[in-house]
Amino acid sequence: MSVTRERILLETAAPGESDGAAGSVSAVHVGVLVSGTGTILHAIVDAGIPVELVVADRPCPGLGVAERAGIAAALIERDRFDAGFDRTAYSVRLVDVLIGHGIDLVAMAGFGTILAEPVHDAFSGRIINTHPALLPAFKGWHAVRDALAYGVKVTGCTVHVAGLDVDTGPILAQEVVPVLDGDTESALQERIKEVERRIYPAVLRRILDQGTVPV
Ligand code: GRF
Repeated sequence: MSVTRERILLETAAPGESDGAAGSVSAVHVGVLVSGTGTILHAIVDAGIPVELVVADRPCPGLGVAERAGIAAALIERDRFDAGFDRTAYSVRLVDVLIGHGIDLVAMAGFGTILAEPVHDAFSGRIINTHPALLPAFKGWHAVRDALAYGVKVTGCTVHVAGLDVDTGPILAQEVVPVLDGDTESALQERIKEVERRIYPAVLRRILDQGTVPV
């Protein structure tokens, strides 16, 4: 199923050019990876960042955001969420699709699959991520819940260059979000996402303007 859908959605896309050098982006072709609601993708598109391809690892509203914006989208579906998941094979497939579209710069926007070496080898220094906590605190998928449970008075978000170690890599932007009395995970998450929707497109704009990832 995923192959068919992928093929249909990819028909509209035109390949670009990649110079292949780590950390260097000459003609910038941006690909965004999503797994969820896609509000950050939406903000990136609204900010005028020229997104050429959206890839999702599961059916999700983020694909609808891409379709409504007229952006080529690929569903490269994870077929397993347990220990049997072949992370390397998945990563190889993702690299094929990204390179097939001439993507230079990969922006993760709420992408729920940890990527293996093939992706980091192919896009070394050119994968950007936004994380809903002040790294290096509260890494992982439940960062907002974990920060709330710990009882921190402030948390926030971090835009960083992504590497093989999850939620690690040079920090490009960070902003503090106060935790309020009686906060719930969803209320805090939404306030954090409001900030991410502002600072993530700004970082991507800077990379596009400079033609390089500033690390
Ligand atoms: C963001 O908070 C991001 O940092 C986290 O997932 C969320 C994505 O939100 N990894 P959305 O799907 O773009 O609304």
